[in-house]
Amino acid sequence: MSTANTPPVAVVTGGAGGIGVAICEALAAAGFTVVVGYHRSVEAASALAARLPGAGHVALPAPVTDSAALQALAQQLRERFGRADVLVNCAGTTRFVPHADLDQLDDALADQILATNVRGPFAATRALLPLLKTSTLPGGGVVLNISSIAAHTAMGSNVLYCASKAALDNMTRSLARALAPAVRVLSVSPGLVDTDFVKSMDPRWREEQAARTPLGRLAAPAEVGRAVVVAVRDMTFSTGTVLAVDGGRPLA
Ligand SMILES: NC(=O)c1ccc[n+]([C@@H]2O[C@H](COP(=O)([O-])OP(=O)(O)OC[C@H]3O[C@@H](n4cnc5c(N)ncnc54)[C@H](OP(=O)(O)O)[C@@H]3O)[C@@H](O)[C@H]2O)c1
Repeated sequence: MSTANTPPVAVVTGGAGGIGVAICEALAAAGFTVVVGYHRSVEAASALAARLPGAGHVALPAPVTDSAALQALAQQLRERFGRADVLVNCAGTTRFVPHADLDQLDDALADQILATNVRGPFAATRALLPLLKTSTLPGGGVVLNISSIAAHTAMGSNVLYCASKAALDNMTRSLARALAPAVRVLSVSPGLVDTDFVKSMDPRWREEQAARTPLGRLAAPAEVGRAVVVAVRDMTFSTGTVLAVDGGRPLA
């Protein structure tokens, strides 16, 4: 299939989640054909693909802990589009567990967090790599990992969530070296993002988080989406680095 005149394709895992929606919107507005990857949220993902600006967007299953399903995704991309230029690893999971409560972070939860947040982005990259390598985007194909400032502040929903994002940032660097020059690999690292879920939490806690942020507020999901587009479209000489979208939170 000739792809010379077709728009570039961006695959977003966790595309129907709070931040994923904003990333899909920003990529569609920037001219990408967007594949909204989902695990459970098939209806929300399909509705999003239908309302994004531009044509050709589609919702496809992208369960990141199922490597066979990720290979099937890659095959669907080959058949439908003949290309995949950008992979945004946005799928992630966590649960609030106080850091001192080691018993509550049991093996099942630990395995779920690490399999989803660390093995998942690796497996998705592995499955889509043959397509990403042949991207004709300026600067080559891109893997964009949605990390968190918890990776280096070690403050976040639980101990292993923080560790999972530190592992993800480390993987960003290893893969950036290993996959250059054909594919760039970057982390975008938000502080607390004001998704509907975060909005539903205790307002006093949200205000406290905003007050501890030098820029005095939480990130809007759209700001993370715009950072992804800038990293993919404009930062064509950047790889293996972590781009913070955190209002200066670690400075406080
Ligand atoms: N919200 C924040 O303040 C914040 C801050 C820093 C970083 N982050 C990171 O940003 C990313 C998105 O977070 P969010 O706030 O948008 O969370 P969210 O609304 O809970 O969305 C999480 C997404 O991950 C997907 N997902 C979970 N397990 C999956 C699996 N096994 N396979 C495939 N997809 C799976 C879900 O897909 P389905 O709904 O289809 O099941 C959902 O779309 C995460 O990596 C998170 O760690 C969030």
